[in-house]
Amino acid sequence: MSKPLANKTALVTGASRGIGRAIAKRLARDGAHVFAHYNRSSNSAEALVGEIEEAGGSAEAIAADLEDVKAVDRLVADVKDRLGGRKLDILVNNAAVAEFVAFADTDTETLDRQLAINVRAPFQLTSGLVDSLAEGGRVLFTSSVVARTYFPGAPAYAITKGAIDTLTRHLAGELGERGIRVNAIAPGATETDMAESLLGSDEGRAQVTSLQALKRIGQPEDIAGVAGFLAGPDSAWVTGQVIDVSGGIKL
Ligand SMILES: NC(=O)c1ccc[n+]([C@@H]2O[C@H](COP(=O)([O-])OP(=O)(O)OC[C@H]3O[C@@H](n4cnc5c(N)ncnc54)[C@H](OP(=O)(O)O)[C@@H]3O)[C@@H](O)[C@H]2O)c1
Repeated sequence: MSKPLANKTALVTGASRGIGRAIAKRLARDGAHVFAHYNRSSNSAEALVGEIEEAGGSAEAIAADLEDVKAVDRLVADVKDRLGGRKLDILVNNAAVAEFVAFADTDTETLDRQLAINVRAPFQLTSGLVDSLAEGGRVLFTSSVVARTYFPGAPAYAITKGAIDTLTRHLAGELGERGIRVNAIAPGATETDMAESLLGSDEGRAQVTSLQALKRIGQPEDIAGVAGFLAGPDSAWVTGQVIDVSGGIKL
């Protein structure tokens, strides 16, 4: 099997579960050494490292609570330390929280928590690591289809993803001179813990597929495939884009 990311390094946040885990496995399969970030799910992160190594890849787990500014600073220092003299080729800002709370019930704590984890942390992490990014490196964000279209019940979460789309375009402009490409993936409903309240019932699954052109539920590997493309050489002329990966939801 070809290894388009051989000798590359990648940091994937939120790699312990769901979409981030699938992205970490995909980048490792493509040959990258993966720093698999986690917060609470240490067992799952260690298991991921084991799975990657068993498959012939290389990875190491790295912890940080992205809600905490100081912890993000420590993560930046820790990644630089582990890189030694190497550069970081691929930064995947994927970790996030989604709190499904109606507008009228969204208090400032709920809003601040999601802004901190979903927007401030990727901003701060990317800023902290920007000098360590390789020329020709890639930054990926995980956005969401909720940034472009209305879904009821999560306005605070939705605006955090709108901010990610804007950051994607601005960073792409800023980092283009160094050949660094910046793109975002906007998943639709994808079968992970985050989407359990929606996809955990037959009614929820039927409702989701009724909104999609493709009539099945998205899997983390569907997102990881596009992340592999955006991290790899075949997307060399793609930057500043938010790519909808949703089976064509609400077209
Ligand atoms: N699933 C969907 O339907 C869907 C749709 C659109 C967009 N997305 C986006 O896709 C990305 C991944 O979502 P997912 O569905 O894979 O979510 P998930 O299964 O809930 O996993 C979330 C990941 O983020 C990490 N995380 C959460 N809070 C954190 C914190 N305070 N500090 C550090 N890490 C933290 C978790 O780490 P620990 O478990 O180690 O704490 C976990 O690895 C997110 O950006 C999400 O917004 C998901």
